[in-house]
Amino acid sequence: MDLNLKGKTALVTGSSSGIGEGIAKCLAREGVHVMVQGRKKTELQRVVREITAQGGIAHYVEGDLTHDGEAKGIAAKTLQELQHVDILINNAGAFPNQGWLQSSPQDWLDLLNVNVVSMVRMIQAFLPQMQTLGWGRIIQIASVAGISASPLSPAYGATKAANINITSSLAKDLAGTGITVNTVSPGPITTAGTRELFQEIALEKNWGTNWQEIEKKAIQEMLPNLVKRFGTPEEVGNLVAFLASPCADFITGANYRIDGGRMV
Ligand SMILES: NC(=O)c1ccc[n+]([C@@H]2O[C@H](COP(=O)([O-])OP(=O)(O)OC[C@H]3O[C@@H](n4cnc5c(N)ncnc54)[C@H](OP(=O)(O)O)[C@@H]3O)[C@@H](O)[C@H]2O)c1
Repeated sequence: MDLNLKGKTALVTGSSSGIGEGIAKCLAREGVHVMVQGRKKTELQRVVREITAQGGIAHYVEGDLTHDGEAKGIAAKTLQELQHVDILINNAGAFPNQGWLQSSPQDWLDLLNVNVVSMVRMIQAFLPQMQTLGWGRIIQIASVAGISASPLSPAYGATKAANINITSSLAKDLAGTGITVNTVSPGPITTAGTRELFQEIALEKNWGTNWQEIEKKAIQEMLPNLVKRFGTPEEVGNLVAFLASPCADFITGANYRIDGGRMV
């Protein structure tokens, strides 16, 4: 299926690793000119190098999305390199392993800044030019934790529920403009961040240190799903590429789970 994405432009936040990297690579394979973003320069350079080696077109912009000034700089550099942005993928986020009594009010505020307000900064930066273009795609990467509350990481779940809610609000606000707004909610996906989180949990639960064993135990005891494994960044990238394409013109305000059937 030709997704008709050739020559489109996209910013993928948090694409120096994990799911964002998977999304950036999938979009680049479809012919999208991609701006890769994150805070670690060497990782950003690696992702750009790998995309370019596969024949794709990518640039990178380094910066922290939690600061207004840096976020404006990220948007300015993106527009300077790409001229305009057709597709905004709000993926950057953090998922600390903090229960109710381990997270202070300041921790909640900090996480809200990373996981929600960072997305708002990018939406406000790119929306006016999408409105001028009369076409656009805005996709938030939330989580199944935003659909079903967990007692283990309440602040994370609350920020991910907010991602789903801001998508619905913006989709309604942009009715009839040609700009669609959707959420993708992954279940557990194998990334550096997830490995770190589940390695911490494995220590608490005596699951050992072998990643295959940890993944198996996590699926058996914490996150059962019908496919019986974690997903991959590329699988999320494939779904995002479809939603970002003109093939998905009739899809807006939706929340797509990609969770191996966890929430059925
Ligand atoms: N992995 C999962 O199982 C899973 C499941 C459901 C939802 N999600 C969601 O998917 C998204 C990506 O998760 P992941 O597992 O791929 O995480 P990851 O591998 O830890 O990657 C996070 C990315 O976000 C960037 N980032 C974090 N804070 C930032 C900030 N303040 N400013 C700029 N960039 C920042 C990181 O950049 P640097 O490393 O360069 O600093 C990195 O590129 C998150 O929103 C997460 O909630 C993940």
